[in-house]
Amino acid sequence: MESTTVTTAPEAVKPERKKVILSGIQPTGVFTLGNYIGAVRNWGQMQEDYQCAYFIADLHSLTVRQEPAQLRKQTLEAFALLLACGIDPQKSLCFIQSHVPAHAELGWILDCYTQFGELSRMTQFKDKSARHADNVNAGLFTYPSLMAGDILLYQADFVPVGADQKQHLEFTRDLATRFNNLYGQTFRIPEPYIPKTGARVMSLQDPTKKMSKSDTNANGFITVLDDPKVIVNKFKRAITDSEAQVCYREGKDGINNLMSIYSAITGRTFEQIEQEFAGQGYGAFKLAVGEAVAEELRPVREEFARLMKDKGYLEATYRAGAEQATAISQRTITKVKKKVGLLAP
Ligand code: TRP
Repeated sequence: MESTTVTTAPEAVKPERKKVILSGIQPTGVFTLGNYIGAVRNWGQMQEDYQCAYFIADLHSLTVRQEPAQLRKQTLEAFALLLACGIDPQKSLCFIQSHVPAHAELGWILDCYTQFGELSRMTQFKDKSARHADNVNAGLFTYPSLMAGDILLYQADFVPVGADQKQHLEFTRDLATRFNNLYGQTFRIPEPYIPKTGARVMSLQDPTKKMSKSDTNANGFITVLDDPKVIVNKFKRAITDSEAQVCYREGKDGINNLMSIYSAITGRTFEQIEQEFAGQGYGAFKLAVGEAVAEELRPVREEFARLMKDKGYLEATYRAGAEQATAISQRTITKVKKKVGLLAP
């Protein structure tokens, strides 16, 4: 045998593989301040330390009935919004899920390794099927296998998830482990990524509930594209308490929420905030929070408006993203097809 040892570089000189972070967001309307502080803002900050992949989960949106033109519009807007929030397509992989065929392919294959019973236990399925009782379709049921495919295709190490998606990530880990046990090492087992500043933003009108864009009271939520005046006004109307003391304490849900938001944006600690507003009423505090949020979101809104006027750039960017994502996902899907016994084309 000829020398097989000289050709490979020693392990130590190999550039280290950056850990992969992946997340998806559905194109169902503008992000709220909660999505921004709790997720999307951190995504931008993680680009230096990780290989990041972010995509618009349009296939997942089909599980509830959509108006086609509206879905197309919202998909493009969601993509622009990702970029406007600081995700740099030169550093991160950004794409639209339906542009990369391997997602649907792996989703189907994983469906065949998923038990009816496991999917029946998913709390999101139970909630959504109760809310859309007239359209409990098979996609709504198998949604977690499609999501597992999204994650496993890219061999993600970490998935930043909120509480509502934790069970789906647990399921992904179980499914990947099961597949690996059957066919040998195929998928990396992903872990949840818990951001350091994990402020959970609550409704401004009912601070015991998570801020949500489906809130019937528009004063309860802020979207990242709200006009600065609207933002300040919504904060002025935020529900607080009658104590007139800015401090973080159990039972002061409204003030706690405003303090968390202010802290997330200014980087100040609760103690510093208490000192800053000592002896002042809530009026001054609410105004300060509103103005800080409006200032933070100003560049997002301006960049979004600029991008939406440059459709050519957006199209070129999502096409380039799809091309890269297709190349990466091909490695996994090809392996999977071979392992399960599909004849190579
Ligand atoms: N299910 C997620 C949501 O509704 C979106 C999503 C789809 C996702 N695929 C993903 C999130 C993969 C993380 C990883 O919020």
